Amino acid sequence: MTEERTHAGRRALVTGAGQGIGRGIALELARRGAGVVVNDLAPERAAAVADEITAAGGDAAPAPFDVTDWSAVEQAAKTAGPVDILVNNAGNAGRVAALGREDFAPFAETSPADWAPFLGVNLYGVMHAVRAFLPAMIDRSWGRVITVISDAGRVGEPTMAAYSAAKAGAAGFSRAVAREVGRHGVTVNCVSLGTIMPEGAEDDPRLARNLGRYVIKRFGRPDDAAAMVAFLSGPDAGWVTGQTYPVNGGYSFSS
Ligand SMILES: NC(=O)c1ccc[n+]([C@@H]2O[C@H](COP(=O)([O-])OP(=O)(O)OC[C@H]3O[C@@H](n4cnc5c(N)ncnc54)[C@H](O)[C@@H]3O)[C@@H](O)[C@H]2O)c1
Repeated sequence: MTEERTHAGRRALVTGAGQGIGRGIALELARRGAGVVVNDLAPERAAAVADEITAAGGDAAPAPFDVTDWSAVEQAAKTAGPVDILVNNAGNAGRVAALGREDFAPFAETSPADWAPFLGVNLYGVMHAVRAFLPAMIDRSWGRVITVISDAGRVGEPTMAAYSAAKAGAAGFSRAVAREVGRHGVTVNCVSLGTIMPEGAEDDPRLARNLGRYVIKRFGRPDDAAAMVAFLSGPDAGWVTGQTYPVNGGYSFSS
């Protein structure tokens, strides 16, 4: 855990930060001195994480809204004011509930209505937040946009085709925006995660089987993701843009 206040004076918005990876990112940015706007669809989760940060001496405020709802995101940008760092973390690997099954589904068994929730959060949610918060970064000649994608979007994952498409779309979108805004001091990157679990999950024999595909024999933790987001949003990453960084225990390699 770092004691460095590398993010002092910066303001960050983390979407979907009410639990899991987003919470870990919000706590890490706050620990590094950033003021954090804690977004979540669930207001009580956003409030709990904002309280956790302020109780630890940090600076945070909850901002509940749905990233799939453009007018809500636009309104949130007006209410929250400018941010220096936008972390698009809200996402859903989800299940195809419409099929009435509690499992992921082969693409050939799905229909367009099944795809919409994945594209809505993982692609449109990212586009909405970038559209709403980017202009102030351009005006202020400094910004960091980091989007959490998945190795499903880099290397493909069976039964998760729509999710994979949305995450790959978010990465392609990020590369295009990176080319537009570099001249304004704004960098745009993605972090591609492998499976992130709470500590101890590898002790569960049902999950341990899946570790065979990981070079490092543990699942990822929110801190692993947060460390990369902290680097990309910090002072040492000013010449890094348009990239996708895998943080995946060696599940897949990037060349
Ligand atoms: N957990 C993993 O193994 C894993 C692997 C690869 C990528 N990811 C990605 O990491 C990110 C976080 O995953 P997680 O496992 O922490 O998820 P999670 O489901 O534990 O938490 C996601 C949070 O986002 C919020 N959220 C969902 N939809 C939202 C919306 N429309 N607007 C605002 N908030 C919304 C939820 O309420 C929840 O609090 C996601 O983008 C996910 O796709 C996760």
